[in-house]
Amino acid sequence: MVGLFRPGAQTMPQLVPLDPQDVGGLRRPLTSPLSTRALRDHVARYPHLAWRAPDGGEYVVGGWWRRRDDVGTVEELAGRRYAVALLERLLAAHATAGARLVVLSPHEAGQRERFYLDHGFQHVDRIMRMEKLDAVAPPEPPAGPARLRVYADADCDAVLEVERHSFDWLWWNSAAELRAYATQPGVRIVVAELDRQLVGYSGSTVVRRDGHLDRLAVHDAWHGRGLGELLLAEALRAMLAAGARWIGLTTQTTNHAARALYEKHGFVSTELEMAIVGRWLRTED
Ligand SMILES: CC(C)(COP(=O)(O)OP(=O)(O)OC[C@H]1O[C@@H](n2cnc3c(N)ncnc32)[C@H](O)[C@@H]1OP(=O)(O)O)[C@@H](O)C(=O)NCCC(=O)NCCS
Repeated sequence: MVGLFRPGAQTMPQLVPLDPQDVGGLRRPLTSPLSTRALRDHVARYPHLAWRAPDGGEYVVGGWWRRRDDVGTVEELAGRRYAVALLERLLAAHATAGARLVVLSPHEAGQRERFYLDHGFQHVDRIMRMEKLDAVAPPEPPAGPARLRVYADADCDAVLEVERHSFDWLWWNSAAELRAYATQPGVRIVVAELDRQLVGYSGSTVVRRDGHLDRLAVHDAWHGRGLGELLLAEALRAMLAAGARWIGLTTQTTNHAARALYEKHGFVSTELEMAIVGRWLRTED
């Protein structure tokens, strides 16, 4: 376990759980990412991850990252005097609930990353955006041993298994996240099978003329055999056929295999990069 409370920085005040009915009395910053109603709903949904100072209106609210139950979030921390105490209280609640890591929402990372870096947080990964502007569809490959077909609900466990053998732990989908993703408008998931075994998949979204490659993964036992490229090329053809004229994606800046594959298919790096800022609560499971 990583130590949760740092003595000395601030004396720990008696913080109280934030009740939905108290939300109206909070000191809400103008920059808050949540409307009062959204904050009230959020607090009602995650009652054990919302705390406020006993006096004044300082508060903190947390949640769960990508519907994971082992990666928590700091959604919003509104406080100065009690900032450290509120943060530590939320981290303790996350630790009790089973989180291994807590990451900042984009709002918090943008507001005061320095504060968090001074309190045990670090950059746990870095992602970048790539874009394909040429709208050129890759040609159909000759038939090979792999079969591509559209995802069905029954594939959920096999897809999650592929993820555990391809992505780093941080990027694993939860079953809930995958199921929710699969039902979003414009989403198309395709799986690759070899001898009826699911060995890879792609996920992409088209909304009007914007395409986005959301996921691409091949089980590591089958890396380097052309399956990632097969899945990517198929997803690009499908997005362009569905009307996409610009296609974007995000990947880790250090993911050299993926970046090489995307560059091979006309993607270029943009200036957009973002750190994932988090604090480990447990070093391993
Ligand atoms: C990225 C990934 C999908 C590639 O799948 P793959 O089936 O191993 O890749 P392919 O065999 O189809 O390779 C196609 C191209 O990708 C690039 N590539 C693949 N592996 C590479 C490696 N280890 N190093 C450098 N380039 C690599 C090359 O450009 C290659 O073309 P080439 O064979 O003409 O050199 C796979 O590595 C993976 O699942 N990684 C983990 C999940 C992930 O990172 N997904 C993408 C995140 S957005």
